Amino acid sequence: MPEPRGGAHVDVAVTIIVPTFNERENVAELVARTAAALNGHAAEILFVDDSSDDTAAEIERVARDAALPVRVIHRSENTGGLGGAVAVGLAEATGDVCIVMDGDLQHPPELLPAMLARFGAGDVDVVAASRYIGGGDSRGLGTAMRFGVSRAATWLTKAMFPRRLARSSDPMTGFFLVDRRMLDVPTLRPQGFKILLEILARSDVRIAEVPMEFSERRSGTSKATLRQGATFVAHLTRLRFGKMSMFALIGGIGAVANLGIMWILIAMGMPYIWAAIIGAAATIVGNFLLQERFVFADMRQDARGPWTRFAASITFNGVEAALRIPIMALMVETWHISSILATAISLVIAFFARFLFHSLVVYAPRRGRSRRTDAAGTEPVTDTAAQRILKAIDAEAMRPGEL
Ligand code: GDD
Ligand code: MN
Repeated sequence: MPEPRGGAHVDVAVTIIVPTFNERENVAELVARTAAALNGHAAEILFVDDSSDDTAAEIERVARDAALPVRVIHRSENTGGLGGAVAVGLAEATGDVCIVMDGDLQHPPELLPAMLARFGAGDVDVVAASRYIGGGDSRGLGTAMRFGVSRAATWLTKAMFPRRLARSSDPMTGFFLVDRRMLDVPTLRPQGFKILLEILARSDVRIAEVPMEFSERRSGTSKATLRQGATFVAHLTRLRFGKMSMFALIGGIGAVANLGIMWILIAMGMPYIWAAIIGAAATIVGNFLLQERFVFADMRQDARGPWTRFAASITFNGVEAALRIPIMALMVETWHISSILATAISLVIAFFARFLFHSLVVYAPRRGRSRRTDAAGTEPVTDTAAQRILKAIDAEAMRPGEL
């Protein structure tokens, strides 16, 4: 049945996806207000719950006499945090029109009809509730600090995706409608809080916005932390430039840290040789830990143990240090180029070699172990080295299409 266009009346099956992490006190009111707001729409509420308290039981209790169908998926493992929960909701929703909404009533359910009406006009695939357009309001964010950070993150993000986010004043909002048919849900790699950003950056969707008033949290506490902030920066970099740039960024930070440590130790009176050794050691360990956390986190599980990875990584450093200077000298001798140019070339080659070695060797899946056994439980597949190289190049080439 074709959907009516242009009118406020939309007769589509809608799924309201609500991620929850310890939101017991908010469930009953959220369900009641959502049901009241959606009065007349064919809709269901799907909670995707990662709570450590009895939120899921409370949802089941409220579902029994709710005015619309209410389901809950309680995940045994919290993969991908809030974003991961939303991805599960998108996959399991009954309706193709999905609206993601927080479970703490900071997103007023009363806005749902306006979002559906905007979608009903038929010219967009996403309708986001924005805190930053006329009538919008983000006082509910709390402290001025939190507001400033949120604004700065928004500008940074928009600057990095000037085309894809041109029509989005609030790509970080967690309150949005999306037509699931426009997404390739299994390819979403949501991490942490920014699922809309992931959708906008990776798929070609048309977006419209409606203003929202971001309310105060009703009950319970926010799960936004500094750690979420770090995860966000990593997510952004990975979305924009792929794993390799994150790897480079950490390498760069490491080089600066190395100099800083040396400088402090020498200033404290340590002989420069010792300062250099300690600086190098601290940088090697620090880089390794950061790469583990921010670049290769998704590959760690199938790879060899952490000590083996560490050993492989420092072995590479040693071999690289031993080979780079002779190779540079060879370039100067045979190509007759300046030593500065030769050094630059050798550093670039060393960088790519380092990245390829880490992604293809240090974090390679263990022999006989699957990279990923799919949900259907099919036989594990082990890639050959050639396939792995092709996949790594592929993953790097598959970036959101813009710059
Ligand atoms: N299933 C699941 N798993 N739900 C989670 C998790 C998780 O690991 N972490 C948080 N949630 C749920 C919370 O229970 C709540 O319903 C919603 O996700 C938002 O979490 P809050 O902790 O209330 O986040 P916030 O208010 O600080 O952040 C809001 O503003 C951000 C923009 O500044 C949210 O709307 C975010 O989506 C939004 O990006
Ligand atoms: Mn909240």
